[in-house]
Amino acid sequence: MASNQLLRAIGDPNRFFNAIRRFFSHQPTSTTPPSSVESSPSDISKSADKKSQPVSSLNELELAKFSAIADTWWDREGPCKPLHAMNPTRLAFICSTLCRHFRKDPSVARPFEGLNIVDVGCGGGILCEPLVRMGATVTGIDALEKNVKIARLHADLDPVTSAIEYCCTTAESLVKEQKMFDAVISLEVIEHVEDPAEFCKTLAALTNPGGATVISTINRSLRSFAIAIVLAEYLLRLLPKGTHQWSSFVTPAELELMLRRASINVQETAGLVYNPFTGRCSLSDDISVNFIVFGTENSQ
Ligand SMILES: C[S@@+](CC[C@H](N)C(=O)[O-])C[C@H]1O[C@@H](n2cnc3c(N)ncnc32)[C@H](O)[C@@H]1O
Repeated sequence: MASNQLLRAIGDPNRFFNAIRRFFSHQPTSTTPPSSVESSPSDISKSADKKSQPVSSLNELELAKFSAIADTWWDREGPCKPLHAMNPTRLAFICSTLCRHFRKDPSVARPFEGLNIVDVGCGGGILCEPLVRMGATVTGIDALEKNVKIARLHADLDPVTSAIEYCCTTAESLVKEQKMFDAVISLEVIEHVEDPAEFCKTLAALTNPGGATVISTINRSLRSFAIAIVLAEYLLRLLPKGTHQWSSFVTPAELELMLRRASINVQETAGLVYNPFTGRCSLSDDISVNFIVFGTENSQ
């Protein structure tokens, strides 16, 4: 990686950050996936059928990254450590926003009793399990069969979580099946899909009239480049190198606009501040890196 390549890229933030990324990963200038990613065509061919979808959210390079780490979903010290660390905090946000919207009592043991929730891109089921314990009827979907199998195995360890319905499919397939839910949740997925605006429309189509949508993702900011990529992937090695593409991140304003165009009005946005040194996470006004939004369906 030559320094003049860096200098040429400075005029354009995307090129600049990609050049920095290549500098850290010693990758050649090309569009090939990061070297740490071992794309496995056999796993990807098992992913939800792409050809039958009119507008597919599947990005096979992104899915290859998750296929490579699928066995580690429930290893709290593995690549999913940040997701496990953020889980209680994002659940607190989901609980307070959904309870307020659906007039549920957040102080009871099963506040989501009566709510039908889908978790799109559920991975190994880190979020689905607490949701079902909180009383919701939960469907978890993921494009990778490996993830769904691991989620199923883990959920079956407990009679309460065994009630989760897992399926290897995409949100757009559920729309074709005319499935709808009181709440549609998709955490840390939108930055990995093919077309975020289309994905928002698909999530909106799955949301019942008057229902709710919750999305979390990573802001496209200087801080996110420093923290979510340089620090987390390259220095602390919390995540495999190349897990995230800075240019695929969306800003809170972009997400709000995409959702508004899909008839979802964002009602609340919060920062999820994860400290990689202490492993702690908290809700904050700081939305410069990880953030979570709650919106309500507004088509009528
Ligand atoms: C970073 S993980 C997040 C997992 C989970 N939502 C969580 O936060 O604990 C992203 C997940 O989205 C899944 N995924 C990526 N693109 C998808 C798509 N188009 N449709 C469904 N799942 C997808 C991946 O297989 C992976 O399990």
